Amino acid sequence: MSPRVHLILSQKGGVGKTTLAVNLAAVVAQTLGSDPAEPTVLVASIDPQASAVWWAERTNLDTLPFDFEQMDDDSDEVAKLNGRDEYEHIFVDAPGSLARPTVLARAMDAATDVVVPMNLEPLAYAPTEKTVLDLVKPRNLPYRVVRNIWDRRDGRSELDATTKWLDEQQLLYTNTVVRRFKMHTTASAEGRVCTQYPPGRTAAEATNDFLHLALELGYGGRSS
Ligand SMILES: Nc1ncnc2c1ncn2[C@@H]1O[C@H](COP(=O)(O)OP(=O)(O)O)[C@@H](O)[C@H]1O
Ligand SMILES: [Mg+2]
Repeated sequence: MSPRVHLILSQKGGVGKTTLAVNLAAVVAQTLGSDPAEPTVLVASIDPQASAVWWAERTNLDTLPFDFEQMDDDSDEVAKLNGRDEYEHIFVDAPGSLARPTVLARAMDAATDVVVPMNLEPLAYAPTEKTVLDLVKPRNLPYRVVRNIWDRRDGRSELDATTKWLDEQQLLYTNTVVRRFKMHTTASAEGRVCTQYPPGRTAAEATNDFLHLALELGYGGRSS
C-alpha cells in the first residue's frame, strides 16, 4: 500500500515546519502504531541547509522512533516518495524559503496532504496565505493551517486575531493549537523529539499537542 505523504510547508521560516515534521512523526510512530524495530514512519528533509546541519550534528538517528533521510535538491528521490511502500506515513520537511522550486514541485507532486504551520504574529499572515494560494490550492491538495507557538501567558488576543484573520481569508485550520513550550525549543536545539522528553507533567502536555494534532489530521494507525 502506498504511504501517505504529508508535506509540511510554508514560505515563512521559523514557523515550526521542522518542529511539526519531526514531532508529528514521533507521535505517529511511537504512540499511534509502528513497530520500533521496523519503523513505518519516515521524515524526509528537503531543506539541505538548516535541517541537515541540525540533525547531522545533534541527533542520534538510532534513538529516533522513525527513519530519517536527507534528500538532495537534484535527486529524484523526492518524486519517488509515494512509492516507498515500506512506510505508512512520510513527513516531508520543506525548505525554509521557496528558493528550491524544483525539489518543492516534486514534493508537491508526491504529497497527499499539506500542513502549513504559522506563528501568531501579523508578519506571518501574508506568507501563510501566499503559501496556500500559490502552492496548495492550484494542486487541489487537502491542507490545514496549524496555529503554532501560542504562548498562553500572552493571553488570547494574538490567537483570536489570527483565528479571525484565518476565518476572513477562508483558510482551513486545525482546531488543535500547538502551544509554546520552552521544552520544544530546547529539544530542537539538542536534536530530540517530544517522545524522548523526560517524564513529567509539562512534557506530557507538550507532547499532547502533537498527539492531538496527529489525531485531528487523521494520521493515526494504518490507513485511517
Ligand atoms: N510550539 C513551539 N514551542 C516552542 N518553540 C517552538 C515551537 N515551534 C517551534 N519552535 C521553535 O521555533 C524555532 C523555529 O522552528 P522551526 O521548526 O525550526 O521552524 P521552520 O522549520 O519553519 O524554520 C525553533 O527554535 C523551534 O524550536
Ligand atoms: Mg526548518
